[in-house]
Amino acid sequence: MTTITFITPDGARHDIDARDGQSVMQAALAADLDGIIGECGGSMMCATCHCYDDEGRTGPRSDGEDEMLESAACEVTPQSRLSCQIKVSAEMEGLVIRLPQSQL
Ligand code: FES
Repeated sequence: MTTITFITPDGARHDIDARDGQSVMQAALAADLDGIIGECGGSMMCATCHCYDDEGRTGPRSDGEDEMLESAACEVTPQSRLSCQIKVSAEMEGLVIRLPQSQL
C-alpha cells in the first residue's frame, strides 16, 4: 500500500491507501473521495479525473493526456495530470495530489 494525500478544493487533506498498480483515479474512487469523477473509467476519454501534481513526482504527461486536458473544466497548468494515467507505485509514498475546483 502507498499513501497518497489528496487536497480537495476546500483545502482539506485526505490520506488514502492506494494499491500499487492501481491508478490514482481508481484509488480516489475506491475511497469515495469527492472531486474526481473518472467518467470514462480510465480510458483517457473524459478529463474528469484532472488533478495537479504540484511536486512534479508523477512524470511527464503523454501526448494523449495533453489532448484530453484541452477539455478539462478548470485551468490546466504544467502540473496538470489525468489521474487515471498515474500508476501508483511504492516510490510514490507520500505523494500529494491537489484536485481542481470542478471536473465538469
Ligand atoms: S477517467 Fe476519463 S480521462 Fe481519466
